[in-house]
Amino acid sequence: MATSPTSGSSEHILLVGMMGAGKSSVGERLAERLERPFFDVDAWIEDEEGLSISTIFETRGEAAFRELEAAVLSSFLANPIASVLSVGGGAVTEERNRTALNLQQCVVWLRATDDTLASRVGDSTDRPLLAGKDGPAELARLSGIRDPMYTEVADVIVDVDDLTIDDVVDHVVAALT
Ligand code: S3P
Repeated sequence: MATSPTSGSSEHILLVGMMGAGKSSVGERLAERLERPFFDVDAWIEDEEGLSISTIFETRGEAAFRELEAAVLSSFLANPIASVLSVGGGAVTEERNRTALNLQQCVVWLRATDDTLASRVGDSTDRPLLAGKDGPAELARLSGIRDPMYTEVADVIVDVDDLTIDDVVDHVVAALT
């Protein structure tokens, strides 16, 4: 774990966790609740590049996507307006991103079991890392690699499996205020 969470009033709140953990839907609702701007790193990249994440992976490769992701994350973190940020599931695999996240006070890991992730995105066709693979097995493999990294950067962990979006928002707000 990184540092202790603070009130969050002047800090960005960053949602991390595997694809399917609910970062974007929770982020949007949390931002509404806290009356803050919400930014989704993936959506921002898609808008800026005019391409879907899948197309970026296909045409430029994962390394190029990771460069864009690190640059966008870093610019969001430099934004002085405290926001809610949804950070793509693989961002933690880059040491530079973990270093940046470790400097933040309000990093929330939306943790889900392999079964939950599989039931939410196991057969998804728009997740480039799952394309052509056994989705549930790949999700479990990636979680195994990434869980220690989420643990490293997280100030708060919410187990989302049995929670609604509003429940998760309640947990995050309670943990950070
Ligand atoms: C990825 C997760 C995706 C997206 C890209 C890579 C990953 O974001 O950034 O497909 O490596 O887990 P979500 O976690 O928002 O689905």
